[in-house]
Amino acid sequence: MSAAPDLFSKFDPLIAQRQALLDTGVKDPFSLVMEKVLSPTRAICNGRETILLGTYNYMGMTFDPEVIAAGKKALEEFGSGTTGSRVLNGTYQGHKECEQALRDFYAMDHAMVFSTGYQANLGVIATLAGKGDYVVLDIDSHASIYDGCAMGNAEIVPFRHNDVSALEKRLARIPAEAGKLVVLEGVYSMLGDVAPLKEMVAVSKTAGAMVLVDEAHSMGFIGPNGRGVAEDQGVLDDVDFVIGTFSKSVGTVGGVCVSNHPKFEILRLVCRPYVFTASLPPSVVATAATSIRKLMHGKSKRDHLWANSKRLHAGLKALGFTLGTETPQSAIIAVIMPDLEKGAAMWEALLSEGLYVNLARPPATPANMTLLRCSLCAEHSDEEVGEILAMFERAGRAVGIIG
Ligand SMILES: Cc1ncc(COP(=O)(O)O)c(C=O)c1O
Repeated sequence: MSAAPDLFSKFDPLIAQRQALLDTGVKDPFSLVMEKVLSPTRAICNGRETILLGTYNYMGMTFDPEVIAAGKKALEEFGSGTTGSRVLNGTYQGHKECEQALRDFYAMDHAMVFSTGYQANLGVIATLAGKGDYVVLDIDSHASIYDGCAMGNAEIVPFRHNDVSALEKRLARIPAEAGKLVVLEGVYSMLGDVAPLKEMVAVSKTAGAMVLVDEAHSMGFIGPNGRGVAEDQGVLDDVDFVIGTFSKSVGTVGGVCVSNHPKFEILRLVCRPYVFTASLPPSVVATAATSIRKLMHGKSKRDHLWANSKRLHAGLKALGFTLGTETPQSAIIAVIMPDLEKGAAMWEALLSEGLYVNLARPPATPANMTLLRCSLCAEHSDEEVGEILAMFERAGRAVGIIG
């Protein structure tokens, strides 16, 4: 009888790749520790004060005094956790208030809060699209979208990134009588580009499909009321489900699905990632509700974040860096690196300067790219954006990315 294989052997290529990278002498870019967090834009890393440019804390709500006070009050009055599912002992007044804040924020009939955005996608997609149904999705979709498709066992039909006619062609090949869900994202987090939702939603509706839009990277920031790209492009009323996360603009943790579908509430009984997990702690839903209500009046923060994004994009381009988008489309600016080694060296050079960005590499990135992903915050000051550009210039010259 032959010996059973070590179940870890499938990771050998990744282990070797990681070791080869560390052997070049760079720090491990995936195990940085925030030793102390000073504000939404600054932390102590490796004993040094560092500007944060890779946190997705777009609206800078994490240190908002009212948000913190709401969390502390709930912690004291309701305890540290619910120890239960939403359908048993885990629905507190705070969960209902958070869902009401979300209904008000989106002006929609239903809001269902999940413990993470990952679970929101997993649960809603897997529960709606089952065996025999079709999920048509952008090939660059987030892992939680793919995992939702796998869990529901639906047929997955990917189409080329942001390509409206590819979506139309895929939809045309699906049997007319089959259940169809088109899954799109407002902002794609790797390159920071925005989807042509207006055209995509129109094509999907003509084909009789339901549409889900994940607005994780646009919630709170994009659109006149911060409802996302669907609002910005005037198609929110035609979208069946919007997925959002509390881990970015809202500044805490959690996920949501909002909808106007009249039968939406049944999901609370049949959606496994909602039913079979503990609900969010009272302090978390209290901070989320307070933050969401403040984001309804966040126009000046949104304006400042756009100004930051435009300035960083123009400044990096002028320095000679290759960027993920021709123009700034969101608060994410991706700087394309020639390869993983150079990307890791640049990441470390920036950290030594006192700047933290995200290093992203395949398979998470499209087209095998290595990216330094920058995400701006409404709390970055004009001076900080200037410092960031100076740090990119020095590090880029030292590593040989720019001349
Ligand atoms: C597009 C997208 N959807 C969903 C998620 C999951 O959000 P959460 O962090 O709340 O699990 C993310 C997070 O990275 C994301 O980028």
